Amino acid sequence: MRLAQILFSQGFGSRRLCAGLIADGRVAVAGQVVHDPGAEFDTDGLVFEVEGRAWPFHAKALVLLHKPAGFECSQKPRHHPSVMSLLPPPLRDRGVQPVGRLDEDTTGVLLLTDDGALIHRLTSPRHHVPKVYEVTLRHPVDEPQLQRLRAGVVLDDSPEPVRALAALATGDHALRLTLSEGKYHQVKRMLAAVGNRVDALHRSAFGALTLPLGLAEGQWTWADPAQLWPTTEGPDPPPR
Ligand code: URA
Repeated sequence: MRLAQILFSQGFGSRRLCAGLIADGRVAVAGQVVHDPGAEFDTDGLVFEVEGRAWPFHAKALVLLHKPAGFECSQKPRHHPSVMSLLPPPLRDRGVQPVGRLDEDTTGVLLLTDDGALIHRLTSPRHHVPKVYEVTLRHPVDEPQLQRLRAGVVLDDSPEPVRALAALATGDHALRLTLSEGKYHQVKRMLAAVGNRVDALHRSAFGALTLPLGLAEGQWTWADPAQLWPTTEGPDPPPR
């Protein structure tokens, strides 16, 4: 693929802007500045540098953000900045968007991608991708609450009970909840339905993806879609 087209596909602005970046000597491949926007490169495993920052080529982007509290997942945030403001412009410009939503005060694993088919696969209830939440509670957690969460509670927007795949006490006021759906405020509403209340919420896993060690709040990293499905069960991971 031509270098200008590569930059364009990765979110570095209009074709003209990308050609200009290259002609100005601000783009390097394998440590060599490339001045020709028409120079051809194999994109497989390609890492290029723009103004000294390395960018691995990804036909589709999937990134994992360690979401801090105080950020909204909406593209048009109302009261707090958007999580999009934590990503560099090329990721925003190529149309990356959150896979589902976390509340403004929830922290932890948030995936973002520009792959519409992947968003569908990850958010569709048919595919049951498990999400793990670490919940801090206002009141002590007890066995009857855990049993009700596992057996299913009825929320106000659907007659069908919603069940936790797993509910495990991790402290007097803490539990680990694994859910397969992603209904609006689901954790908070499920805990309210069993007579407790969520004081803090952290998502520790989405599928098999967890926060990499050392990824601080507000930081992001590239993620591998193949790591979302840990076993051979479920849909084939999408091609990269
Ligand atoms: N459930 C909630 O209540 N809030 C979240 O942010 C995620 C799941």
